[in-house]
Amino acid sequence: MVSPTTMAAVRASGAIPNAEYLLSAEGVRKEFPGVVALDDVEFKLKRGTVHALMGENGAGKSTLMKILAGIYTPDQGEVLLKGQKIRLQSPLDALENGIAMIHQELNLMPFMTVAENIWIRREPKNRFGFVDHGEMHRKTAALFKRLNIVMDPETQVRDLSVANRQMVEIAKAVSYESDVLIMDEPTSALTEREVEHLFTIIRDLRAQGIGIVYITHKMNELFEIADEFSVFRDGKYIGTHASTDVTRDDIIRMMVGREITQMFPKEEVPIGDVILSVKNLTLKGVFHDVSFDVRAGEILGLAGLVGSGRSNVAETIFGVTPASSGTIEINGKPVNIDSPNTAIRHRMAFLTEDRKDTGCLLILDILENMQIAVLQDKFVKNGFVAERELTRVCEEMSRKLRVKTPNLHERIENLSGGNQQKVLIGRWLLTHPRILILDEPTRGIDVGAKAEIHRFVTELARDGVAVIMISSEMPEVLGMSDRVMVMHEGRVTGILDRAEATQVKVMELAAQ
Ligand SMILES: Nc1ncnc2c1ncn2[C@@H]1O[C@H](COP(=O)(O)OP(=O)(O)OP(=O)(O)O)[C@@H](O)[C@H]1O
Ligand SMILES: [Mg+2]
Repeated sequence: MVSPTTMAAVRASGAIPNAEYLLSAEGVRKEFPGVVALDDVEFKLKRGTVHALMGENGAGKSTLMKILAGIYTPDQGEVLLKGQKIRLQSPLDALENGIAMIHQELNLMPFMTVAENIWIRREPKNRFGFVDHGEMHRKTAALFKRLNIVMDPETQVRDLSVANRQMVEIAKAVSYESDVLIMDEPTSALTEREVEHLFTIIRDLRAQGIGIVYITHKMNELFEIADEFSVFRDGKYIGTHASTDVTRDDIIRMMVGREITQMFPKEEVPIGDVILSVKNLTLKGVFHDVSFDVRAGEILGLAGLVGSGRSNVAETIFGVTPASSGTIEINGKPVNIDSPNTAIRHRMAFLTEDRKDTGCLLILDILENMQIAVLQDKFVKNGFVAERELTRVCEEMSRKLRVKTPNLHERIENLSGGNQQKVLIGRWLLTHPRILILDEPTRGIDVGAKAEIHRFVTELARDGVAVIMISSEMPEVLGMSDRVMVMHEGRVTGILDRAEATQVKVMELAAQ
C-alpha cells in the first residue's frame, strides 16, 4: 500500500512515467446484498487514450469506476496506478492521486453558485482566511474560457438546465488537473452541439496525455471518440478491443450475447381522432404560441436543442407550470389543467427528463415506485388496493423491461442508472394513459432494453394512445415518430411528416 502523499509525490516527480498503464484493475470482485456486481474483472487504461466502457444496464460499469474513484472498496482484487498498487480510501484520496470522476447522476448543490460548486472544499482564501469570492470568480471564468464554456459563474445551479449542470460537472472534474478522468454517461443530457463541444474538450485532454474512461450507451459516440473499449456483461469482463477493429453489431453481440434484429419497431397503425389539441400555448419568457394536435395512435416526436422549450411545453401541458395564455383541448373539449393531479385525472402520463429531481422516490423500493401512479386507479376497489394483482402486473412489467434486481423490494437508489429509468417507464406504462408524454425516455438505457421500450410505446400507439416523445437522439425521433415537431428558442419552427423528416431537415429547423 502506498499512501496518497507518497503517490502524489511520485506523480509530481514523474518517477515512474513509463508504466505501461496509467490505471488498471485486476481480479476485482464486488458484491452487494443479492447481487454480484463485479466478478473477477480486469480493466487497463493507457495514457493519452479514450477508453469506452460498454455493457447493458446493470453490467457493473459504474460500480467498477466507483472503485477506481475511491467510492467503493473492492471485496477482492487490486487497483494499480502507474504500476503501483493503491488502496483508495475515499473520493478525495482518489482526487489527490489524480483520479477524477463525473457521475452518472449529477451531484451539484442547487442552492450554491456555479463557482461555489466547482471549488467546494478548496475555495481560494484571502489573507484573513475567508473565501476569496473575487478570486474564485476569476478562476472559474478562466476555467470556462479554457473550456470554451459560456456561463456566468455566479448563476445558482438550480437555475441551470440539466445540460448546463452537466457542463459544470465536467468543468469541475477538469479543474482538478487529474491524470485520469472518468466520465459516466456524460452526454446523456446533452444535445448534439454540446456533445461536439465536450468531444473537443476530451480530444484536448487526451492530447495532454490524460487517460479518459468514457461510459456510454451510444454506439456512434464510441466510434467517434474512443480509441479502445472494454465490454462487461452481468458483472463479468468480456474483452477489450480497438474501436477501429469492430463493427456496431460486434459490440452489441459482446454486450448482450445475442442478436438484436430490429432497432426501431415502428408500426403503421391506424391514426384516429385528435386527442390532444394545443392552441397558442404560451408561458411568458419561456415558450410562445405553441400549437399542435396529437391523434390517437400517433407518435409525435419533439426535437430541438436543449433549452428550446420542449420540456417546458410538456410540463405546462401536464399542469406543472400552468400557461400564461393559450388553450388545451382533450377530445375536443377545452380543459383547465392546473396541476399534475388534474392531468392524471384526464389520463395523461408524463415521464420526466430528470429522474433524480422529479421522478424517482429514492428511498422507496421498486414496487412502490412503480405502483405510485396507479394507486388511485383501477387497482383500488371499494377503497382497498388489489395488492396481489398489482404486484403481479408490476412483476410482469419489470420482467418485460428486464429490470436487473434481486427482487422488487430493492430500494430504487441501489439500482443502476438505466434500471431506475426502466422502473419509471414501467410506472407510467401501467397507468394505461390516453395521452403519454415521454421526455427522453431511453436516456441511459442499453440497446436491448431500448428496443423493448420502443416496442411498448408502439403497442400503446396501436391501442390508440396519443404519444408525445421528446428526444435528443435523432435516430430515435426519426425511427419512432409519425410526425416530428421541431422547436427553437421557445417557438415551433416546423412540423414534418414522417416521410419528409430527415436528420438534416430537423437540424436546420432546430438551429435556424
Ligand atoms: N449500492 C448498491 N447496492 C445494491 N446493489 C447495487 C448498488 N450499486 C449497484 N448495485 C447493483 O450492481 C449491479 C451493477 O450496477 P452498476 O450501477 O455498476 O451498473 P451499470 O453497468 O453502471 O448500469 P447502467 O448502464 O444502468 O448505469 C446492478 O445489479 C445494481 O443493481
Ligand atoms: Mg451506470
